Amino acid sequence: MKKFKRYLVTSALPYANGPVHIGHLAGVYIPSDIYVRYLRLRGEDVISVCGSDEHGVPITIKARQEGVTPQDIVDKYHGIIKEAFKGLGMSFDIYSRTTSPMHHETAAGFFRTLYDKGEFTEQTTMQYYDEEARQFLADRYIVGTCPHCQNDRAYGDQCEKCGTSLNATDLINPRSAITGSVPVMRETKHWFLPLDKHEEFLRKWILEGHKEWKANVYGQCKSWLDLGLQPRAVSRDLDWGIPVPVEGAEGKVLYVWFDAPIGYISATKELTPEWEKYWKDEETKMVHFIGKDNIVFHCIVFPAMLRAHGGYILPENVPANEFLNLEGDKISTSRNWAVWLHEYLEEFPGKEDVLRYVLCANAPETKDNDFTWKDFQARNNNELVAVLGNFVNRALVLTDKYFGGRVPAPGELTDYDRDTLGELPAIKRSLEENIENYRFREALKDAMNIARLGNKYLADTEPWKLIKTDEARVATILNLALQITANLAIAIEPFMPFTSEKILRLLCVDKLGWEQLGETALLAPGHEISKPELLFEKIEDSVIEAQLQKLADTRKKNLAKEASRTIAEQKDSVTFDDFGRMDIRVATILEAEKMAKTKKLLKLKIDTGLDKRTIVSGIAEHYTPESLVGKQVLVLVNLEPRELKGVISQGMILMAQTPGGELVLLGPSGPVVSGSTVG
Ligand code: MF3
Ligand code: ZN
Repeated sequence: MKKFKRYLVTSALPYANGPVHIGHLAGVYIPSDIYVRYLRLRGEDVISVCGSDEHGVPITIKARQEGVTPQDIVDKYHGIIKEAFKGLGMSFDIYSRTTSPMHHETAAGFFRTLYDKGEFTEQTTMQYYDEEARQFLADRYIVGTCPHCQNDRAYGDQCEKCGTSLNATDLINPRSAITGSVPVMRETKHWFLPLDKHEEFLRKWILEGHKEWKANVYGQCKSWLDLGLQPRAVSRDLDWGIPVPVEGAEGKVLYVWFDAPIGYISATKELTPEWEKYWKDEETKMVHFIGKDNIVFHCIVFPAMLRAHGGYILPENVPANEFLNLEGDKISTSRNWAVWLHEYLEEFPGKEDVLRYVLCANAPETKDNDFTWKDFQARNNNELVAVLGNFVNRALVLTDKYFGGRVPAPGELTDYDRDTLGELPAIKRSLEENIENYRFREALKDAMNIARLGNKYLADTEPWKLIKTDEARVATILNLALQITANLAIAIEPFMPFTSEKILRLLCVDKLGWEQLGETALLAPGHEISKPELLFEKIEDSVIEAQLQKLADTRKKNLAKEASRTIAEQKDSVTFDDFGRMDIRVATILEAEKMAKTKKLLKLKIDTGLDKRTIVSGIAEHYTPESLVGKQVLVLVNLEPRELKGVISQGMILMAQTPGGELVLLGPSGPVVSGSTVG
């Protein structure tokens, strides 16, 4: 493998239209921080750069919705994100932002260089224009009906209901999202980066030169390349962004995906006057940490930009992760389905490393993964408390108790002692290999194996049983246990920096370097250590239940929102015959019981006048079973039977749904005979 003199590590610039959540952390920031902390411990020359991505259409839409300026939006979220990253111990050397003057200058300069070198093509295309707002409409600014799923609120770039990516011209009944008016087509001129010109180079560079990239990354690149690359527009008609630095480009800005990755360069410039050696010297290893939705921009577009410019190095690796889900559902900023970092830090003070640990242990490295609060609790209680915390605590407490808090001098080592210590170098090698190959979950397991080793050692040697009879042997055992503890502090530093620091503080030692991992005389006999303190505490069920309740409330709110939206819009017309095909009857509820293992479902026995049958209804959160017996309700009796949680439901009880999401049963205003028809 090529040896590099220095490292430049970038982490995807988070989009400043919302706070950062656990999905971002598990996908990008935790892995990147582990990597750079490891390199720093090894004494490598490494810089880690990041910042907020503050341009682009979604920010302008949000600003408009909230009646503030785009600058207000990005100021707010830049502050929240920066603070939260700091709270989690993210060790960027700089966290900058793309509205900074340095970035505007750098990105405009970059564009101008490509322009002057003739690296762009110009194309005049037809674009939607809002005559009322007197501006061109970015794809995101156009709403209409999705041609695939009929969702009438699809955006010009994507339908969020069925996930299809769209062109604005695909939409049926397009409307402007700004004024609601029907947009017209107008000519507009834009600059394009002819990716097709770089295709051959990219093919060789990635498909032949970087077979070692993660399979998900390599695979995505290959399918893009196999499809054939097209020129990509790098400018937009928009009034928020970096003005295109060319005569006659009024009202046009750089496309956000053109300027954002240049943000890595601007941030480096802000960080150090020696920025060029990180960006232009072949002996620098550049690594981009990103999520899977960013692969094409970092593996294809940005490298093409760098190459078109000339003089820049290209990334050595782009270890993109897949996505993290939350309790089985896709994380979504707009639906507030997330665990927000800034909220976590407030609700779980002192537990930064617990989140870092769980997100690394469960990182979506090769496939999408799920975060659940139960798993969070289990990993804390069974791994951090029971393994890591328990070992360190035992070593410290026993030393305190038997040797007054001084490191005892070891006597002669047994074979078992030697075998135990002999495991450390192998663990170290595995840890290094895993981190250097971006397998952080495995690396974390290696680090935890040191605690497991220590636990096993104490359990096997049982110093508490020997203290009365063989103090010299206990001195050896605890000396070893403390040496293992010091090793552990080094190994976990990249993953859990707060805990590492705490262990070192308890051992009363200054920072240890990576080269000391594996050494077994890190603490001299006689050295005094602190009074023991616990590293982790159990997380109780009530804490987890509160988090689950918070998510349940979010779910409810989203349903209510969806309900009120449905209420606000009338459905398409139906014919008299369509309606006549529905057989609606008055029926009487005979029995009602809650269905096991469900929250919402009741199993009802009803008398339809035609027969007595079973219907499963989702009203358990609104009615108790007892309150229903004897009630007369309206039932669609000829709805196709369907199975719900193992029960065949024959029909549907009709209910009113309020804008607040409440469900209310409907029935005749006075008693009627069961089976009476409705229509
Ligand atoms: N803001 C983008 C996202 O959240 C990432 C930008 S990465 C950069 O997906 F390279 F463009 F900066
Ligand atoms: Zn759709």
